[in-house]
Amino acid sequence: MRRPFIAGNWKMNLDRAQAVALAAGVAQRSAEFGAVDVAVCPPSVYLAAVHESVAGSPVGVGAQNIYFEVSGAFTGEISAAMAVDVGCRYVILGHSERRHILGETNEDVNRKVVAALAAGLIPIVCLGELLAEREAGQTADVIRQQFDGSLAGVSAEQINGIVLAYEPVWAIGTGKVATPDQAEEVHTDLRKILADRYNTAVADAVRIQYGGSVKANNAADLLAQPNVDGALVGGASLKVEEFMGIVAAAAK
Ligand code: 13P
Repeated sequence: MRRPFIAGNWKMNLDRAQAVALAAGVAQRSAEFGAVDVAVCPPSVYLAAVHESVAGSPVGVGAQNIYFEVSGAFTGEISAAMAVDVGCRYVILGHSERRHILGETNEDVNRKVVAALAAGLIPIVCLGELLAEREAGQTADVIRQQFDGSLAGVSAEQINGIVLAYEPVWAIGTGKVATPDQAEEVHTDLRKILADRYNTAVADAVRIQYGGSVKANNAADLLAQPNVDGALVGGASLKVEEFMGIVAAAAK
């Protein structure tokens, strides 16, 4: 049985006071939903403060990115060990905004996955097609290429500690959520890819989140799909009530 996992990706939003208050609100409500793993992923400058704000609660903290080198002259970057040092349990890797705005390649994502695992972080690895790719019938191919490239060399033991997030780019921040069937189709493909590359035990164990315009009022239908194990939530994770509405849907 896969434990549902709801993570909030706050992206580049909020100030310090707002971040701390939001984290405290989520932490306070999270005890009601013991069957669900909950995480918040603030901007890196607020990680330490947010970690302090959720202390004593089951809420995990995640970074939105790390660099793959251990240390050195990499101005502006943070390492996996630094993320761990300020309290991170998770790190989002290969988010479409990093792939398409910041130019991250599958190879970059792969190196970051390796670095995250070495530091003991749980990577949340994002995969997803552009609208043009979906319209051209290329979704399955794009997902497989991203999976193969981003997770190259990852062992069966390591993949068990990884979370996948299917985030169709056309659904992110657009209010155009994938239908439950569209999400389930890709999640099922991902499970087949996992079974082919590893084995059925791995395919059954790895959690696959859906992300893209998830809200409290559409989460239940998505999460009811047998292969949708949680959500990676952007805009709706910025308000306690809205985010906890999604967590509540996962708890059902
Ligand atoms: P929205 O929920 O705002 O569409 O963002 C999804 C996302 O990118 C989460 O990583």
